[in-house]
Amino acid sequence: MYRIAVLPGDGIGVEIVPEAIKALMAVGKKCSHQYLFTEALIGGAAYDAVGHPLPEATLEICRQSDAVLLGAIGGPKWDDLPVHLRPEVGALLPLRKELGLYANLRPCILFPGLLQASTLKEEIITGVDLIVIRELTGGLYFGEKSREKTPDGGEKATDILSYSTYEIERIVRFAYNVARKRHRKLCSVDKANVLESSRLWRETVTRLASEYPEVETTHMYVDNCSMQLIRNPRQFDVIVTENMFGDILTDEASMLTGSIGMLPSASIGGQVGLYEPSHGSAPDIAGQKKANPLATILSAAMMLRYSFDLESEARLIEAAVRQVMEDGYRTPDLMEEGKTLVDTVQMGDLVQEVILKN
Ligand code: IPM
Ligand code: MG
Repeated sequence: MYRIAVLPGDGIGVEIVPEAIKALMAVGKKCSHQYLFTEALIGGAAYDAVGHPLPEATLEICRQSDAVLLGAIGGPKWDDLPVHLRPEVGALLPLRKELGLYANLRPCILFPGLLQASTLKEEIITGVDLIVIRELTGGLYFGEKSREKTPDGGEKATDILSYSTYEIERIVRFAYNVARKRHRKLCSVDKANVLESSRLWRETVTRLASEYPEVETTHMYVDNCSMQLIRNPRQFDVIVTENMFGDILTDEASMLTGSIGMLPSASIGGQVGLYEPSHGSAPDIAGQKKANPLATILSAAMMLRYSFDLESEARLIEAAVRQVMEDGYRTPDLMEEGKTLVDTVQMGDLVQEVILKN
């Protein structure tokens, strides 16, 4: 029995999470696995209900589970709350920190049926298969923040970017272990020409590289990386980088997969893994059944792989997504001529059917 905390959150979160549960249930039925789902409040929905975006009860449910499935959080309704009560800073970041989830995995794989959905040229993105490993509990996101008044009547705002050797080693070793099982190429991304934290990052990677001689190690500045990702993405196998750079680069990299609606994520490193799509709560399309549930469904596959060690079950979900794409079904974000437009629920149903049938 796998215990899964289910946190739908806000906006399209409540629409996409049930579709991922359907996929998990289909796999369970097929392979005789059982789950215990426990739903809990997070984000704006939790703030509205109990006055805090990350209630202690939610955190406790997560700690008591084997894995957490999260939809999305935030929206304009909560943007003007004091910062500690906003869904991003008040819920998602502390959840990642509390659960010790220092490693965020964002695999960018182009499903063959989606070649034309991307804004990028086919010959550039054909065959893309890379993974970004983003450090998730350090750096600018968690550094000291402050505001002070200046004599000229303005203000000064500060966010501290710091990394310790321990934090860097931990994520870099993690990345090497992933690279070992893939094409054995690790690109470490930093801004060592300007930032001290990046210089320590690069020195640490260079020192560790000798322990992993079977992996080819390269370094790249983050500005160059953002260019290389759309110039020649096939050069990358595993990218490892700090929190903020990883946030930015993964939104960019999502376009290699056709749509940000296709990019799943796994956050691991602690006792309990957290699985969520890389995209946000998309308030503009919330409640209209337009959201693409596939990033969340693919995140559920990552849960099977990384939290439950069920590799072939994970592949069942991924193969089903591939099949549905090849059959030409598309949510609006991926829609193009000659394809069949479906809504969020229909897309979830299609994936479920293929899992059960295969
Ligand atoms: C992500 C998101 C979050 C982040 C936001 C919602 C705080 O953009 O998971 O990439 O910046 O980490
Ligand atoms: Mg982001």
